[in-house]
Amino acid sequence: MDQVSRRGVMAGGAALTLPMVPIAAMARSDAVTLPPAHDPAAIAPREHLSFDRGWRFARGHGSDPARDFGFGFGQSDFAKTGNFGIAKDGFDDSGWTPVDLPHDWAVELPFVRDERGEGDERALTHGFKPLGRRYPETSIGWYRRSFRIEAADRGRRIWLEFDGAMRDTVVLVNGCYVGRNADGYAPFRYDITDVLHYDAGNVVVVRVDASFGSGWFYEGAGLYRHVWLTKHDPLHLGRWETVVRATPRGGTAALDLASVIVNAGDAPARCAVDWTILDGEGQTVARAVSPAQTVAPGAATGCTATASFDGVRLWDVERPHLYVAVARLVAGGVVRDGERVTFGVRSARFDAANGFLLNGRALKLQGTCNHQDHAGVGAALPDAVQTFRLGVLRDMGCNAVRTTHNAPTPEWVEACDRAGVMMMCETRTMGSHPEAMAQLELMVRRFRNAPSIVLWSIGNEEWILQDGKMAEQGARIAATMTRRCHELDPTRPVTAAVNSNNEQGVTDPLDVVGFNYHQELPVPYHARHPQRPIVGSETSSAVSTRGEYRTDPKRNVMSSYDGVVGWGQTPEQWWQLYGTQAWSAGGFAWTGFDYRGEPTPYGWPSISSQFGIVDTCGFPKDYFHYYRAWWRTEPMVHVFPHWNWPGREGEVIPVWTYSNCDDVELICNGRSHGRQAVPRLGHVEWKLPYAPGYIEVRARRDGRTFVARRETTGPARRIRLTADRATIDADGRDVAMVRAEALDAHGRPVPTAMHRLAFDISGPGAIIGVGNGDPNCLESDKAPRRSLFNGLAQIIVQARGGAGEILLRASPELPGEALAPATLAIAARPLPRGAAIPSL
Ligand code: GAL
Repeated sequence: MDQVSRRGVMAGGAALTLPMVPIAAMARSDAVTLPPAHDPAAIAPREHLSFDRGWRFARGHGSDPARDFGFGFGQSDFAKTGNFGIAKDGFDDSGWTPVDLPHDWAVELPFVRDERGEGDERALTHGFKPLGRRYPETSIGWYRRSFRIEAADRGRRIWLEFDGAMRDTVVLVNGCYVGRNADGYAPFRYDITDVLHYDAGNVVVVRVDASFGSGWFYEGAGLYRHVWLTKHDPLHLGRWETVVRATPRGGTAALDLASVIVNAGDAPARCAVDWTILDGEGQTVARAVSPAQTVAPGAATGCTATASFDGVRLWDVERPHLYVAVARLVAGGVVRDGERVTFGVRSARFDAANGFLLNGRALKLQGTCNHQDHAGVGAALPDAVQTFRLGVLRDMGCNAVRTTHNAPTPEWVEACDRAGVMMMCETRTMGSHPEAMAQLELMVRRFRNAPSIVLWSIGNEEWILQDGKMAEQGARIAATMTRRCHELDPTRPVTAAVNSNNEQGVTDPLDVVGFNYHQELPVPYHARHPQRPIVGSETSSAVSTRGEYRTDPKRNVMSSYDGVVGWGQTPEQWWQLYGTQAWSAGGFAWTGFDYRGEPTPYGWPSISSQFGIVDTCGFPKDYFHYYRAWWRTEPMVHVFPHWNWPGREGEVIPVWTYSNCDDVELICNGRSHGRQAVPRLGHVEWKLPYAPGYIEVRARRDGRTFVARRETTGPARRIRLTADRATIDADGRDVAMVRAEALDAHGRPVPTAMHRLAFDISGPGAIIGVGNGDPNCLESDKAPRRSLFNGLAQIIVQARGGAGEILLRASPELPGEALAPATLAIAARPLPRGAAIPSL
């Protein structure tokens, strides 16, 4: 099979093999009371209503109008306003498929073996899903939905708000065109007030054209983020204009508060913004009012206030305290609009000599880069999947994420705020043209209150703007983007992820210099530019297949011992640099999770990358335990490979240990193979002949002993199902992440099991996706069945249709297999009154 990668190179010398064994669940310090991610309590009279439910979906066509509901057939649709028949009441969409959002139709498509083309135009970019102009029949999606607007809403402004869609969208309401949006990651919104029917039904239609992507990785297709309908008074607060800047001063927080008042009404309004600051328990800690002012009809006016409070509890990685600012727009004693902004009080500083300081304490960014897709669901991540993903990374000791290479979902940012995980937040397009600037501005405005974000990134590896011929232009573009970030947010520095020497081009105006790979560069760069802060914006690109211990290009698998691409570094190599130098702010490993597309190091049938420290389901690979050893402080030990090697008796097997203890001893079948000191930020290895039985590592630290053990198992005899949460909310959105594995007669997980499992579900739940982390698996993500891959598979179960007990059953797909089925009960509990996200 071909070895391919974007750079067309692969590391040599990655010939060893291996996997892992978790030692103990980590204690978590989540004792802080945090406000909920979505506070459903509306600040009357504004309504922010979820618009995710009740859509219908159909595929259109990119080149044949007859198969694209007549879109673009002649010019009549656009010739007269209100002429789009597909977005009118009488259109028959009964043949369309009911869907709820978020929705990614690409993940539902079959895989295609298409190796035509070069570079990012190839199908492998999309994980071999048929997207792009060569696939007009699978690259266009139509979404249609009806909704009612009451007579009482007359006089309010009503907005349709999309958190993002992949990619070019045309939005129609009641036959009228209301707008189009090209970018796949920026939010977009339309004031649809003028075209609404009151006391009657309305229709919205969105055509999504995923023929053009903007990345070199799987991006999904469709309305893969949330959609909202927002209703507010004509006198209202500007969208994403409400800003809280909190500066810690000793035990006090000094707050600079600002917003923009927009008067879309017909008369001048005398008004002020009233601020209430709440702590994590909902207690008021400060109040403020902006000076009253008169806002003319059609005008927008800035307003500011200051406040302070004592006894501040800082936002930091251990205890991420959050506060809420409630801003109410008051005119004539009446609250006309309002919103709630979550913020934290913390200081974050990048320093040329001391790296990075959070609240004055030097701390390394122990970061990972991540794309936004997951097994089973593609880019359409339910909120709980995002929380799950962050939990996996946090358990590893990851304290920072980089949102590669695009603006994140709001839920990913909120999850980071709540978990105490810092972010380097990156825009997709580098450029100073209006579209690129709009993307950048939306990102900064949208997320500038988030305490987790410590760094804006204006781009990634823009090598054309970095090399000699275009370096001057690169510096100018980067200066324009950096200046705009500073205007919108003077509190955060700006960086870019650069994969060359940083002596010219986009680097010139940056506050923090980002290095991608090229580990030979930062040390001399620091010596030449001791005044410039440095971060490892992208590092590592180690490649491994979970549970595999021998690189085998015939099977497209990579050994778990020390696989890395030619331009990359093993975890040990990069962390020994960025984790130890005083000037280093730390860095971001490529990648936390495996992701679809950009399959590296192999091509077809690999459909996903193998860069992940965990696989596409979030199941840890062995590298996970290297990070856990050195990114967390609790004593731990991990030994690999597994000890099931039938037919290889007597063959020498490398055994590796990751541990942060002082020394480790390896015992195999009762015999010691010696004790070795653990090198700081390194690992310990042995080589020993295989004999079935067990290997055990005894690690010592501070007079205590910690043990990790792998036993040769018997054949798989039964299935076990476990969920990350036994109880989920019966809100139609929440999910349980279920792990399926095969156990032997003694209840030990069989690390090599590859059984095909079938799933059944009953009660108020649905299977919304399945996966197993195998980069070469061409089974459907949406079928109620999946093979185990090296012992594991994942089933994502979503609450549907009310409260009750959801029963998930897994059984062998092949009849007659001696593998006992398993049933798992998940409770879908009713939401407390008033806790549901208001929906339309
Ligand atoms: C980097 C790039 C990433 C990914 C990675 C693979 O150059 O920024 O998006 O392609 O290489 O190693």
